[in-house]
Formats: sequence, C-alpha cells, structure tokens
Amino acid sequence: MGLRSFLLYIIQNPILFAYQLLQWVLDKVLSPTPPPPHADLKRPKIAIIGAGLTGVSAASHVVGHGFDCRIFEAGPKENLGGIWSRVNNTSGLQIHSIMYRFHPSVRWEKGYPDRQQIVSQVRSLWHRYGLEDKTKFNTPITNVYKDAHGRWILNDASLGRFDGIIAAVGTCGDPKMPTLPGQEHFKGKIWHSSQLDGKSAKGKRVAIIGGGASAVEALEFVAAEQAEHTYVLARSEKWIIPRNPLVNGLLAMNVLGSETIFSWIPENILRLFFYRDLYDISPPRNSGKGLFTETPMVNSDVFDLVRSGRASWLRGDILGYDPSGRGISFSKRAQGVPKNGPGTEILIEPDIVIMATGYKRPTLAFLPEDVFEDPYAPPNWYLQVFPPSHPDICCNNCTYVNAIGTVGNYHIGIYTRFLLMYLVDPLARPRSWWMHRWIDMTRFVKSRAPGGAFEFFTYSELIYWFVFTIAINPFRWKWALFVLCGIGKDLPLRFVESEDKVRDGLGMRNVWGGVKRGEAEWMGGKRNGKLEGQD
Ligand SMILES: Cc1cc2nc3c(=O)[nH]c(=O)nc-3n(C[C@H](O)[C@H](O)[C@H](O)COP(=O)(O)OP(=O)(O)OC[C@H]3O[C@@H](n4cnc5c(N)ncnc54)[C@H](O)[C@@H]3O)c2cc1C
Ligand SMILES: NC(=O)c1ccc[n+]([C@@H]2O[C@H](COP(=O)([O-])OP(=O)(O)OC[C@H]3O[C@@H](n4cnc5c(N)ncnc54)[C@H](OP(=O)(O)O)[C@@H]3O)[C@@H](O)[C@H]2O)c1
Repeated sequence: MGLRSFLLYIIQNPILFAYQLLQWVLDKVLSPTPPPPHADLKRPKIAIIGAGLTGVSAASHVVGHGFDCRIFEAGPKENLGGIWSRVNNTSGLQIHSIMYRFHPSVRWEKGYPDRQQIVSQVRSLWHRYGLEDKTKFNTPITNVYKDAHGRWILNDASLGRFDGIIAAVGTCGDPKMPTLPGQEHFKGKIWHSSQLDGKSAKGKRVAIIGGGASAVEALEFVAAEQAEHTYVLARSEKWIIPRNPLVNGLLAMNVLGSETIFSWIPENILRLFFYRDLYDISPPRNSGKGLFTETPMVNSDVFDLVRSGRASWLRGDILGYDPSGRGISFSKRAQGVPKNGPGTEILIEPDIVIMATGYKRPTLAFLPEDVFEDPYAPPNWYLQVFPPSHPDICCNNCTYVNAIGTVGNYHIGIYTRFLLMYLVDPLARPRSWWMHRWIDMTRFVKSRAPGGAFEFFTYSELIYWFVFTIAINPFRWKWALFVLCGIGKDLPLRFVESEDKVRDGLGMRNVWGGVKRGEAEWMGGKRNGKLEGQD
C-alpha cells in the first residue's frame, strides 16, 4: 500500500485503523516470542488436551515462554480450531472481537469475524508457534494418572510423561438432537442448528426449537435465506443484550459476578430501551432469571425481525409433533408462567424444523476421581479451573457454565501462566487447604448467587480473583507481571534457582531444577539422569 492510499485508508476507516493499531501494540507488548524451530524447550512439560482455540493458545504461551508441551486432540487435523471447525460457515462472533482476543497476536480485520476467520486465526497461531510437531490428532484422552515419580501419564506411557495438564476440551461437544414425541409423523425436514451449510429455507416456514444463542444464529440464517416465516419456540427465557462492545463491557464490570440489589437498573434499562414493545420476551421480574444468572445472548437483529413480522418468538412447551404430520403442537405460555404450566395450545406448521438445542458437554471424566468429590467438584475449584487436590491440572475454559464475558480472551494465557508459576515455584504453589479456603470464601462472598458461586462470573470478577490470589501470597509477587501480562519470567526464575540452593542446603526435597538445569527431576526423582520412559 502506497503512502497516499494508506492515508486515504486512515481517513476513510478511522475506527478500524485505531483497532488495527491497538491490536498491533497488544501483539508487540504481550505476545511471547515464538521459539525457533527445534528449540530445546525445558521442563515443566505440559500435556494439553484439545486443539480448539483454548488448547492452541495455551500451547503457544507454554512454548513462547520456553517450556515444552504436547497437544492431544480427539479429532482429525481438520478439527484444529475445535468447535469453530465444525459449525456453519455463516456462524460468527456475537460478542465484539475486542473481547475475543484468545491470544495477544490475534489480528481481527473486523468487529465481528465469522467462523472461517476465527479458525484461520487459530491455525496461523498453531503454525506461528511451531505446534505442528507437538500435536497428536486422533488421540482422545480417556484416562490420566501419575507414575511413581509424580509425573502425569495420559492414556498410557507411550504418549510421554508430563509435569502438568491443561484440559482444554471446551463446553460444546457433539450436537444435542433430542427426539420429540411423535417425530416419526413429521413430513418436513429436521436439521441441527450447526448443520445448515448448503441448506435452503427460501420461501419456507421454519420452526426453531430452543431459545439460546444458536436459536438466534439460526434465525439470522433463515432470515438471510428469505424464509417465509420463522417461529422460535423457546421453553425458557434468556436475556438478550445489544451487540455493542461498550454495553457488553459495562455489564462485565460487575465485580461481584452475581445479582446485586442494583441489578434491576440494567434490567429495566434493557426492557425500556432495547426490548421496548417486545419486553414480554424478556425474563419476567422476580423470576430468578436476573441478568447475572445466565449467559445472555448478544444480538441486535432479533427484535427487528420480530417487529417486521418475519419472525415470532414464542414462549412455551413443545407437546410433540402432530399425529397428522402437519407440524408441532405447542403450548404457548404467558410471561411468568413456569415451564409446563398452563398455556394456549396452538399448531405450528413448519416445512423445516431447526433444532437449536445446544451441544453435549465434553466430559472431564478422564481426570482422577478425587477432583469430582463434593463439595469441591467442578466448577467449584480454585479460580474455577484448578482442582484443589491437583494444582498441576488446569481445566482452562472448560468448567465454565455461564458468564458475561467471553470464552476466547486473555484469561487463557493468564490461567496458563498460573499453572507454569505453580509448577516451577514450589513456594508459589497453592496448598490444597488454602485452595479449599479460597473456594469457601468465594462461596461466602457470592452466597446470594442463585446458581452457586462458580456457575456465573463476569470479567471484572475474574480480574479480582487473579489479582487477589497473587497479592495474598508474597512469594507470588515477583511473578505478578509474568502471570498477568506474560512479561519477565527470568527474574522470578532466578529467585527460584537461588531458593533451590537453600532448599538443597537444607536437604529438602528439590522440586525444580531450574531452566538451565533441565535434567533435574521433578517431584523428588533423581537429580541427574533421566527417568525410565522420560522423553
Ligand atoms: C456456533 C457457536 C458460536 C459461538 N460463539 C461464541 C461467541 O461469540 N463468544 C464466545 O465467547 N463463545 C462462543 N462460542 C463458544 C465456544 O465454545 C468458545 O468460544 C470457544 O470456541 C471454545 O474453545 P475451546 O478451545 O475452549 O473449546 P473447543 O473449541 O470446543 O475445542 C475443544 C477441543 O477439545 C477436543 N477434545 C474434547 N475432549 C477431548 C478428549 N478427551 N481428548 C482429546 N481431545 C478432546 C475436541 O475435539 C475439540 O477439538 C460459540 C460456540 C458455538 C458452537
Ligand atoms: N455466536 C454466538 O455467540 C453463539 C452461537 C451459538 C452458540 N453459542 C454458545 O454455544 C453454547 C451453546 O449455545 P446453544 O444455543 O447452542 O445451546 P443452549 O444455550 O444450551 O440453548 C439450547 C436451547 O434449547 C432448548 N432445548 C434443549 N433441549 C430442548 C428440548 N428437548 N425441547 C425444547 N427445547 C430444548 C433449551 O431450553 P432450556 O434452556 O430450557 O434447557 C435452550 O433454550 C453457549 O455457550 C452459547 O453462548 C454462541
């Protein structure tokens, strides 16, 4: 681009240019440098389960900071990018991409990128950090356990031995396709909301079953396809908030991460200025469905489609397909009437039914049994992701239930660096007792959260968790910049090496041999020479 056309671009697209500039600065300041090819990466060595954006981002942080890792992905290479590699081409971000920066080097060209752009960013990150040789596809992890020296084995020792585990299995697995009563009678087509590529809805009547983000996305798809009319059949209400980064950011600033006595303010503002004449669709007052109880949908087009008469959003229960095969019997409920409560029975006669009924949650059952023990079963873990019995396991982004914030953002790197800090610095590693106390304290602080302390969080709350857990332990202070921003790990590592010498002198068990002494054993093994099977 010549100087003249560059200046023209800035004048014509000032906001986009500022966004590009911001991304460039974030990349330069916060991205760890990719290791050179065949670099001698050190222990701790981390096993990463899942090659979605969380797994790839976590791996790039690990190798970028000079440590070693392997990624194990259940699916084939085409699944690189996780759930985004398996959904419709028309799928895209509903939240603004400034809140979806899953790695500092990500470069979005627009505010709301589509699926292909997201997958291509994941893939280029994977290439940039040389993760090709470190990824094993078609390798579902079914079991993890420790060897006699305290190193993790995944499935069996042939996959290697690891000092820590990052589970990045996501929250959206295979599509959920419930069979509704009388389905065999229906003469039209039934598709899952994630399988719409190549399908046409032009001139058709469409029923969308479900009232979540996939339903909204399916509604946009059929509207673009010029369907005759679309009925969204939602059995429960979720909040819809505008597609506006400022509004989304403001809502994410509730530091308590749960309902407060002030929640009625944003709720009423939304009803008055966003839902307006369609406020009947919003969760009713005093229904327990506050704005800070479930992940809201982020969309500004749904209401326009309803107002224009092209779509109807109906609250109620599906009674089943009509025996005549004409359609779906639906009990339409008024606002405030609970599920399966009294309603008006109507017949919806669609040509196409789209099941926007969500996805099965990927299992974490491969983890040791003790991580699931009540009252500290997921998501009730330290910082929501570290099981208190195993601070060397980080379930990055996959214990998440509901939030105002996004899944694909900076916290992936922060959690990864927490794990690295715990692994390299024994004095910074949390003890199980303290992890339990932190969970208890958070439960107390959020005792009024209807779903429990860890089923909903906001970004401000995450920041408070991170800063608090660093501030509370003086041995973590030296790591603060590294954990929060990925900057400067060498200084704290030198401290740890000096502490190692003291530990050695005191005849204490040495848990970390330092970066330069890569042969040192982990967790009480021999100091020199390799363990059997160690790679
Ligand atoms: C259509 C759609 C749109 C979305 N839009 C948004 C949005 O706008 N904003 C937002 O925040 N979120 C959105 N999400 C949620 C989405 O899940 C996250 O944004 C994000 O992609 C999660 O990435 P991940 O890497 O954590 O998990 P995934 O992308 O699900 O990747 C997990 C990977 O782990 C692998 N895996 C699972 N179990 C195992 C195992 N046992 N062994 C080995 N590998 C395993 C899977 O095969 C998969 O490849 C959307 C989801 C969908 C379906
Ligand atoms: N671009 C985006 O932002 C985007 C797009 C799609 C998905 N996502 C994300 O992906 C995840 C999954 O979203 P999703 O919308 O696919 O799933 P979801 O949030 O689980 O919503 C599924 C919907 O289907 C309903 N449902 C399920 N089974 C049903 C049945 N048998 N009969 C009638 N209704 C039924 C549910 O009702 P109940 O609530 O009553 O169970 C719910 O309304 C979320 O994290 C979401 O944020 C994001």
